[in-house]
Amino acid sequence: MTETKIALVTGANKGIGYEIAAGLGSLGWSVGVGARDEVRREEAVSRLRAAGVDAFGVPLDVTDDVSVAGAAELIAERCGRLDALVNNAGITGGGPQQPSSVDLSVVRAVVETNVLGVIRVTNAMLPLLRRSASPRIVNMSSSVGSLARQSGLGGETTTGPVAVAYAPSKTFLNAVTLQYVRELADTNILINAACPGFVATDLNGFRGVRTPAQGAATAIRLATLPDGGPTGGFFEDAGVVPW
Ligand SMILES: NC(=O)c1ccc[n+]([C@@H]2O[C@H](COP(=O)([O-])OP(=O)(O)OC[C@H]3O[C@@H](n4cnc5c(N)ncnc54)[C@H](OP(=O)(O)O)[C@@H]3O)[C@@H](O)[C@H]2O)c1
Repeated sequence: MTETKIALVTGANKGIGYEIAAGLGSLGWSVGVGARDEVRREEAVSRLRAAGVDAFGVPLDVTDDVSVAGAAELIAERCGRLDALVNNAGITGGGPQQPSSVDLSVVRAVVETNVLGVIRVTNAMLPLLRRSASPRIVNMSSSVGSLARQSGLGGETTTGPVAVAYAPSKTFLNAVTLQYVRELADTNILINAACPGFVATDLNGFRGVRTPAQGAATAIRLATLPDGGPTGGFFEDAGVVPW
């Protein structure tokens, strides 16, 4: 089996996910570009390959059981294992998301992608991760999911606009992350959540102030942690994000 490290990045056709794929590729990793749209996926794979990355396309809609099972099969056949899974795909559900007037279908859709999508993909990939000598799972969260920051507890400042679908979906994802950490405590899988900061991407109409490459840095660090590195943490560039 190849010694080249293998990663799958979900939602890697653009934004932060693309830059995570590019960054891992520049470190010599082989990177599966998980993306649901064939044209956008193949364009991203072509761009990555042109930049020297050993990239391959992985058809993947995180909300679709059949698609996710197919992605796991593709990686099993092509690579035989997975060293890092970066659950990056996410949506905001659009706005406004005032709790008192939100359309519940928006909340459902956001949770389906940002939370259930992560569980679906993680469970499909776990058998492949278990075949790695140093498996890593990175869940792309957001500091808007931090209850400490939302509530102002401990001097933390409130973050982001009121968004009853998006922000709690990241809180839910953080809690899910810790449940995996607990279940898999006796394995060598390091599992962490990452916040990329406020990054200029389609997600926020490019209002963010950081570049996608800057936003990718923490996830790349967590995907490439050395053995014995942290697990069960929530990190941004500046350090630990309070839950
Ligand atoms: N930008 C920020 O400031 C910021 C801050 C904190 C956290 N984050 C998180 O960072 C992650 C990446 O966001 P981004 O800013 O890079 O946004 P983005 O540019 O909108 O990219 C989102 C990616 O997710 C994919 N995606 C959405 N739904 C999917 C599905 N059902 N199946 C597969 N892929 C799906 C999109 O694919 P399509 O092109 O097909 O839609 C796209 O590739 C998200 O989890 C987001 O919540 C972003």
